Amino acid sequence: MSGGRKKELFKSYETRWSARKAMFEKYVEEMGLDTPYAVISRLTRFENDWVLGLEHDGSPKYVRRPSLGIASKQGNAPTNKSWVTVETVEGVYYPALTYKGIGPFLLDITDARPFDAIVEFGSGYGKNLINLYSGGGPRGIPYFAAEFTEAGRDACSYLAGLDAAFDLRSVPFDFNAPDLSFLDGFNRVLAFSNHAIEQVEEIGLEFFELLASEDRDVYCLHAEPFGFTMKEHWGKPSEKQEEGARAMGFNVNLLARLNEAAEKGIIASLYVAKEVLGGDPTNPTSVAIWTNR
Ligand SMILES: C[S@@+](CC[C@H](N)C(=O)[O-])C[C@H]1O[C@@H](n2cnc3c(N)ncnc32)[C@H](O)[C@@H]1O
Repeated sequence: MSGGRKKELFKSYETRWSARKAMFEKYVEEMGLDTPYAVISRLTRFENDWVLGLEHDGSPKYVRRPSLGIASKQGNAPTNKSWVTVETVEGVYYPALTYKGIGPFLLDITDARPFDAIVEFGSGYGKNLINLYSGGGPRGIPYFAAEFTEAGRDACSYLAGLDAAFDLRSVPFDFNAPDLSFLDGFNRVLAFSNHAIEQVEEIGLEFFELLASEDRDVYCLHAEPFGFTMKEHWGKPSEKQEEGARAMGFNVNLLARLNEAAEKGIIASLYVAKEVLGGDPTNPTSVAIWTNR
């Protein structure tokens, strides 16, 4: 590379890195993000949609990233991103863009609206909540890890003890006998489950009635393997999934229950996307998102 080109390149990097530093300062000072990972993860999500370019006079400017122009198989996610899946082998498809798992999806949701509490139902040791917080999720609000097993709650409490600034609370919870009193007093709740209702053979209406209480705004996401209960795009993944679910005595009624809750006016909006997350083609994750207002 000629000396002139090299000089130009370094000059453009000087501009770009200082523009990014200004973004970091904004995240720290205005959003209260407090670890290097949280800050860079926030910028990465922003730059998935915006490209940092240079104007004619050399000043930095973010411009909206152009659409890839690939026809989306599943339509648009409610976070303004398109589901794009690719066929790998006959009837087996794989999430190629947008979200491979629940982590960045949750972050796009918390980037877009305020919450005063977050709860994961069937949380295990709290991996998804920890990733959400570490990736730049909201500060200064409680993250509830609602879990049936004592060992899961115990492991979560141990992890919570490692970071005094992170208000991670482990609470006992059973989908089959739901007690949501720990959410009393919170008005804007993000709730989610990830491959947890899958283990509840028949989810009852009571869980949705309690969660969708009129005392609070609820935004709820279920990332669960219910695709085989939908007939659209029926294919190998659905077949395999149904075999597995029936063999294990796993859930078969989540989607039917959500539709019932919508019909009865317990929930106000329901969005469903079949088999759009997850890396296992024999057990892909479908998504249902509902709100109660
Ligand atoms: C496959 S793990 C998923 C854990 C966590 N959601 C994750 O994504 O890492 C399923 C979890 O659901 C919990 N679970 C199963 N049945 C439950 C029930 N009836 N009530 C609450 N949690 C339950 C299990 O104890 C387990 O922690």
